Amino acid sequence: MRIDIITVLPELIKSPFEASILKRAIEKGLVEVHMHDLRKYGLNKYNQVDDYQYGGGAGMVMMIEPLDKIITDLKSERDYDEVIYMTPDGETLNQGIANHISLKENLMIICGHYKGIDQRVRDMFITKEISIGDYVLSGGELGAAVLCDSIIRLIPGVISDETSALTDSFQDGLLAPPVYTRPAEYKGHKVPEILLSGNLPAIDQWREDQAIQRTKDRRPDLLSDI
Ligand code: ADE
Repeated sequence: MRIDIITVLPELIKSPFEASILKRAIEKGLVEVHMHDLRKYGLNKYNQVDDYQYGGGAGMVMMIEPLDKIITDLKSERDYDEVIYMTPDGETLNQGIANHISLKENLMIICGHYKGIDQRVRDMFITKEISIGDYVLSGGELGAAVLCDSIIRLIPGVISDETSALTDSFQDGLLAPPVYTRPAEYKGHKVPEILLSGNLPAIDQWREDQAIQRTKDRRPDLLSDI
């Protein structure tokens, strides 16, 4: 997979790719991530990328011209499966969307700022609009980092024990069951007996029951979808 990220703040989105699982995925060649500084495509000697909105109102809008230039440049080099715009009015990211996008080869992600990007950029180029939740961030960068993490960890080979991504919360529509590690007892708090029994079918059943119970308690809305 190759991901091209267009941003006015490349420094804001670098670090998630420089540690742990994402770093290793890049080192193993399973994903390439390229940051593109939109300011380099800015207009005039100030490298302007935003302007006042037509019709008046508070807040600047990211201009069409720099975005058109950089998107067109990138598209001339390869075909993109999706050109994604990070925005609070997009489709809310969930595991199903992450699974779907993780199967793609080439992705472009546009990070918005201020009041967002000129609507004509959305009309001309954007194939998917994604929000990471019902709150407004200062820009799309942190959302893009969240999206990238959620999809890169699903690429086969990124997580060493492949089944581990498959048993994440949400993969089967349920929250994950509780997990424990050593010691078996700590300050009087014991690990459930069943997990020490070695009875694998019984352990599987216990985990499923726990996942269902946890989902009922915390996210009953997920069960109504099953
Ligand atoms: N940009 C600003 N807020 C956002 C959000 N909630 N999700 C994605 N991108 C955003």
